[in-house]
Amino acid sequence: MTEPEPSRTPYVNASATGEIPSFNGDEKAKATDFANYFCSYAQLYHQKQMLADHNRMAAYHAAILGNSDVFKGKVVMDVGTGSGILAVWAAQAGARKVYAIEYTDMANHARTVMEANGVDHIVTVIQGAVEDIELPIESDNLELETANEGDEHRVVDIIISEWMGYFLLRESMLDSIIRARDKFLKQRTGLMFPSHTTMYIAPVCDEGERKQGAGEYAGAMSDWSDFCETTKHIYGVDMKTLESNFDREQKDYYLFSSRWTELPSEAVLAEPKIIKYLDLSTCTLADARGIESDATDNSFDFEINGNEYAGPISGLSGWFTADFKSRTDDVGVKCAPKVQNPAFLSTGPENGYTHWGQQTFYFLSSIPLLNNETTHLSGAIEMQRTKENSRLYNSRLRYTSSRLRKDNKDKKNGEEENTKILMKSAMVEQVYQIP
Ligand SMILES: C[S@@+](CC[C@H](N)C(=O)[O-])C[C@H]1O[C@@H](n2cnc3c(N)ncnc32)[C@H](O)[C@@H]1O
Repeated sequence: MTEPEPSRTPYVNASATGEIPSFNGDEKAKATDFANYFCSYAQLYHQKQMLADHNRMAAYHAAILGNSDVFKGKVVMDVGTGSGILAVWAAQAGARKVYAIEYTDMANHARTVMEANGVDHIVTVIQGAVEDIELPIESDNLELETANEGDEHRVVDIIISEWMGYFLLRESMLDSIIRARDKFLKQRTGLMFPSHTTMYIAPVCDEGERKQGAGEYAGAMSDWSDFCETTKHIYGVDMKTLESNFDREQKDYYLFSSRWTELPSEAVLAEPKIIKYLDLSTCTLADARGIESDATDNSFDFEINGNEYAGPISGLSGWFTADFKSRTDDVGVKCAPKVQNPAFLSTGPENGYTHWGQQTFYFLSSIPLLNNETTHLSGAIEMQRTKENSRLYNSRLRYTSSRLRKDNKDKKNGEEENTKILMKSAMVEQVYQIP
């Protein structure tokens, strides 16, 4: 009797268990993933875009070369080496051995870069998914941290990687980093670079871009109307029956997709709120999945003073920061080497251009800010992988806004300030794609 076929996942771009295909994906899922995700990384054009992002480069350069005491004599793994730049820096910082892992044919270019920079005797480029590769433990004489069963691959002292996507989690490469960590990194003394990441959101004023999206949507619908008239008039077929479907498509594209933005810091209307913090030494695959509705940090209550900001609130913007610092988990604090010169990368509006920019979720209608009134924007954010593609995310926003005025006319009589609620909106709930 033959085994029944395992049921196929509804995901097109995932393994049968819903994971990213580089882990356990069948050939079809891997091919789809390659076509959708990896193929761009195989082009120098795309790698160059990242290499020309000076905020990104400066942070990794400072993290690695600014901490050569930590790298000296160590075994380093660069997960997703691309053109190889982080591996070169690790070698220059004094690493004894660097394994530069790259899935795409960019691995060939990385080898050339190692030779051209005189570090090919230190850096070994391995082409493959980090989930599949093995390290030459015996031939390279690599030391295990312990002789414990299950630890026979844990020979790496430092994992460096630039795995972050838009709004941190897009691309889902964090799964690969966690799997590499749990297989190869020394548990007690190993370091992750970056070591911690933080996701933020804040209300922003950016009416130009919000109105542009609305205008593009209106233009697409007006064009549809012309198209229907023409098709009926010239070809005798009524297409109006498809209007609601076209409308849904256009709304999803123009109105309910976050937009890449490079906001000036003045656009931010309140102290940004942390919605997810990851310790890369301890975070789990479940943590990497997204932000669930019952997450501890995912709610927000922004208070915006109408005397300080003209507004209006055009939407919520999200971004992330990455730290390269000492371990903060109980084991790491005791056993791992200290990072004497912590480095930091911000993709927030205060830091200027990065290729990540911010992902801004524009509201359908903006929320006004009025003088002598305080506006509260309260709600929660979720982030989940899409059913169709395990590397893409949707974000669900739920929010209400309310306007409050502090009435202090009786204050001279020693009475407390009286807060009047002038308006409270209905709850808005909207799902946005992160394209
Ligand atoms: C954002 S790029 C960073 C490239 C390079 N490290 C840099 O900083 O310029 C990520 C790279 O990781 C590779 N990659 C992603 N997932 C991988 C995996 N599971 N195994 C090996 N390489 C992977 C991609 O092909 C891509 O070249």
